[in-house]
Amino acid sequence: MGSEKKLVIGMFGFGVVGEGLYKVLKQTPSLKASIKRVCIKNVDKKRNAPSALFTSDKNDILLDPEINVVVEVINDSIAGYEIVTTALRNGKDVVSASKKMLAEHLPELIDLQETTGRSLLYEASACASIPVIRNLEEYYDNDLLHAIKAIVNGSTNFILTKMFEEKLNFKEALLLAQQLGFAESDPILDIEGFDAANKWVLLLTHSYGINITIDELLFNGITQIDASDAKVAESKNQSIKLVAQAKKLHNGKVATFLLPQFVDQNDQLYFVKNEYNGVVIESGFADKQFFYGKGAGSFPTASAVLSDIAALRYGYKYEYKKLYQHAPAELSDDFHLRVYISFEDLATIPKEAFTSIEEWHSGNERSYLIGTLPYSNLKASDWWKNNRTSLILMPNSIVEDNEINELKRLSLSLAGLEL
Ligand code: HSE
Repeated sequence: MGSEKKLVIGMFGFGVVGEGLYKVLKQTPSLKASIKRVCIKNVDKKRNAPSALFTSDKNDILLDPEINVVVEVINDSIAGYEIVTTALRNGKDVVSASKKMLAEHLPELIDLQETTGRSLLYEASACASIPVIRNLEEYYDNDLLHAIKAIVNGSTNFILTKMFEEKLNFKEALLLAQQLGFAESDPILDIEGFDAANKWVLLLTHSYGINITIDELLFNGITQIDASDAKVAESKNQSIKLVAQAKKLHNGKVATFLLPQFVDQNDQLYFVKNEYNGVVIESGFADKQFFYGKGAGSFPTASAVLSDIAALRYGYKYEYKKLYQHAPAELSDDFHLRVYISFEDLATIPKEAFTSIEEWHSGNERSYLIGTLPYSNLKASDWWKNNRTSLILMPNSIVEDNEINELKRLSLSLAGLEL
């Protein structure tokens, strides 16, 4: 291919992903890409690479005319934004894995690609090794995407697997996720769902042309899941996973949220364990397709960065087809969710919010109920995040308006329930 260009890379960051990429590139000589400089904060720290490679001056990369690709794999989203925007303006293509930075600035970054004519690729920023963004862009380049659901955070999936299958406690499991390099440097971002929410913001844009901030997304992490919830899951042969999902409703709009969910054994996501991620896509004619791969860790993430770098050889750019070549989808508030809620005190649960209740179990320390309530109630309030309440979606949790009357007919009356 005569049009392949030689890539000279300047990299920002030499942490789990940066060092991984350095090693991976050394093992991929056929790519004709080499790292010229690596910019890091602390040049005195001992690194597994020749010291001449490193600099702490960002301009050694950003102003070097020979460097035509900037790889940005740092933790700081403010500095990351500065680096990525400057690099694009200076005529360099960019590969980034900074999901938080990307989710916070996507519209400006899309505009900047347009005005500079440069390419910004970020496959590693969602589901690490799974090539989901490029597939959503290129393969699902039509409006037949009925639904997409995914496990997008490796650490939380790892923690849930270790807790419920290997009986580690939360702290032990988190520590292990940190030691293995899966967790964010601030693990709150993982366990409270922020990291997954950032990734989901990116995937929503590439799935449906919907661009939101995480403040507009209904999401939670895994910190409220109680040991008693795991027992309920086990008794039903289910597991609990943190699942992001979006689905086209009958009204043509899209429902989306990211919450813990009971997952049946006949669901592909059931078998996604440890730091693996999984994406299930439902499309018009193909029915279900399943993508599976490591969602965190040095080499799996570096492999996605490597693939983006390789794509730059032939000038690949995201075209944001769902935003620009189709009418972007709209979000809907007009649906209900089937949920399981466990709690200590019934008085803390707004019973009037429920459209229907189908199961009720009273226990000594915790009780639980299964019922349906409007998505808009959860979106507008946070009672379900307080008072040691745990909210977990039921499988197939979306209930559309046409199904509500039947549920109401079958509903138990909460008025008569007592602890
Ligand atoms: N902390 C992230 C995760 C790393 O656990 O998924 C990969 O993005």
